[in-house]
Amino acid sequence: MRAIKFKNKRLFYIDQTQLPLKEVWRECKSLDSGYKAIGELQVRGAPLIGVFAAYCLCIHFKNKFPNKNKFLSEFKKASKRLKSCRPTAANLAWALERLEKVVSKNKNKSIGYTKEMILKEAQAINLEDILLCERMANFGAEFIKKGDRILTHCNAGFLATSGDGTALAVIYKAHEFYKNIKVYVDETRPLLQGSRLTAWELTKRGVPTTVISDNMAAFLMKQGKIDKVFVGADRIAANGDAANKIGTYGLAVVAHYHKIPFYIVAPFSTFDLKLKNGKSIPIEERNKDEIRKLVNKKEVAPKRVKAYNPAFDVTPNRLITAIVSDKGVIKPDFKKNIKKVLG
Ligand code: MRU
Repeated sequence: MRAIKFKNKRLFYIDQTQLPLKEVWRECKSLDSGYKAIGELQVRGAPLIGVFAAYCLCIHFKNKFPNKNKFLSEFKKASKRLKSCRPTAANLAWALERLEKVVSKNKNKSIGYTKEMILKEAQAINLEDILLCERMANFGAEFIKKGDRILTHCNAGFLATSGDGTALAVIYKAHEFYKNIKVYVDETRPLLQGSRLTAWELTKRGVPTTVISDNMAAFLMKQGKIDKVFVGADRIAANGDAANKIGTYGLAVVAHYHKIPFYIVAPFSTFDLKLKNGKSIPIEERNKDEIRKLVNKKEVAPKRVKAYNPAFDVTPNRLITAIVSDKGVIKPDFKKNIKKVLG
């Protein structure tokens, strides 16, 4: 199962806002529709939005802008617009910058050729992402033992990448080896990526799954029901501070208190080595109604009450046991070892 499909130069995606009740496939036909799909989290997860945005640019330019100068200026604008859509996910800007480099390298070539080249680059990003997932799965599975009970937060699986996922790819790999691992899934308020998406994925793949609400995690840890925590990341600074879905930091704090190993799984494209630490990671703030209402739009708070809706938080490196990347496992000292492994 894949979350997006690129076929005959057309881009299709499963609308994740409709899961798990309905599997609705939509087509991205324009920059506007791609921007909306990413912004509304119909397509989500840091690696996947990078791949999707790259394809979306190709779609946007497929039959338009035969004039070279117009194409070049329009390309910059379109790429900038898509980048702004979800500012925390490093993979989004990373993928679009790869296309920008291709455009700049070919600026003296014919426009048809340049368009072919950006399409090839988008396809390469897509295929590479599948491979990165496989590598992370192999590196990460070594941390999982028979009978482990694993807690995860948000969705870091095949709905969030081109392949099997980051944190969930590790879990799928371990599940192939030892059929008796168990996964607890935080529901992940406000948009319920855990109960709607991760639980859907895991049960589809036959992994024993239990959904809990976010405020139960600490209690389960105290009860001795969690052996390990595995989560993905949206952006990782040079010192290992890692941004992921809001609530991840809280989990890391309670895992640390209960001496439970806490693993981040992310490809090199999620690292932002220009940032010294997590303080400068941009945190996306989303519509306050996501807090005031449930995902089915039912109001659960007074209409005009103030609300605050940061979509991500940053887990400081000292709470992370190891970062599983596609290039290998990175352990503390993160500042030194990230440079060694990824530099
Ligand atoms: O807001 P979302 O659903 O896009 O947030 C996604 C996450 O926080 C994931 O954990 C992260 O992108 C890693 S996914 C491989």
